[in-house]
Amino acid sequence: MAESPMRVLITGITGFVGSHLAEWLLANQSVDVYGTVRVRSRMEHLSNVADRVHLIECELRDAVSVQHLIDDVRPDRIFHLAAQSFVPTSWNSPEDTLMNNILGEVNLFEAVRHSGHPCRMQIACSSEEYGMVYESETPIKEENPLRPLSPYGVSKVAQDLLGYQYHQSYGLHVVRTRTFNHEGPRRGEAFVLSNFAKQIADIEAGNRNPVLRVGNLEAIRDFTDVRDIVRAYWLALSHCEPGSVYNIGSGQAIRIRDALNQLLALSTAKIEVQADPARMRPSDVQVLHCDATRFREKTGWEPLVPLEDTLQDMLDYWRERV
Ligand code: GDD
Repeated sequence: MAESPMRVLITGITGFVGSHLAEWLLANQSVDVYGTVRVRSRMEHLSNVADRVHLIECELRDAVSVQHLIDDVRPDRIFHLAAQSFVPTSWNSPEDTLMNNILGEVNLFEAVRHSGHPCRMQIACSSEEYGMVYESETPIKEENPLRPLSPYGVSKVAQDLLGYQYHQSYGLHVVRTRTFNHEGPRRGEAFVLSNFAKQIADIEAGNRNPVLRVGNLEAIRDFTDVRDIVRAYWLALSHCEPGSVYNIGSGQAIRIRDALNQLLALSTAKIEVQADPARMRPSDVQVLHCDATRFREKTGWEPLVPLEDTLQDMLDYWRERV
């Protein structure tokens, strides 16, 4: 009798990373894909795969709902991507970010623990956990001190350490991935490169004056294409040590100003760049530059999509939509 396919559950499947992961899994692995949705979830990112994934309504903040989810699906692998992921929102509503990100994960761990079903879990932690990083500490290794500079960063530290603790206490198979910035088509328009790309597309379409509004252009980030990231997540659950933590990022750091200039060079529109004080943060993370040696050695992962292609794809994505 043929073995039934592995059951993979993605929390946050309707989001940016979740939808790319679902597509990658269906194209590259023989698995059944399940995903959680909420009542008001927007479904447009799933349009390519909607008829091939199993969607289950679940509020991760609600322990009963999560226990039903795990007991019904009995997943072999879980990718826990659902989160409040935009840093500025975490200053406006810190409680919501902390509750959503921490409680959702605790409920998932508790449900898996009580189900008794063996399951591997990847948890999406973040380079924002490093927060205040000194030049001498870059590129950043996993041992770097965690000095988060936003409630979002703190919520990710909590998620990360809960992953460690549930592994130590109960032997749960949790792999902690600290992912650096990732971009690509479908990225929410609040995030920096997607935001700039959308403003350019809007200007080209005549929807706004030729003025592009920006926040802190001096920050340095390490961008990786989302399609490389979802492949990395699969490898993380295939090869990485449970309980351990892994940085994931390209290792190529770029100043936001330079990334903006690359984007502007992809357009023939004449655009003025203007500082917008509302886009400045109470404390911005100045530099995030990834040392992913541990992850690369464990999995053989290499990013394949250069930043130029990511930028072009994002711009084209918005050009089709504005
Ligand atoms: N969003 C935004 N909008 N950021 C701007 C702007 C702007 O107009 N102008 C400059 N920036 C700067 C921000 O101040 C920040 O230094 C950098 O661009 C990146 O901002 P975001 O794209 O909002 O991402 P992030 O680095 O704060 O967080 C992202 O990466 C983390 C991993 O490092 C998010 O995806 C997090 O969810 C993720 O964990």
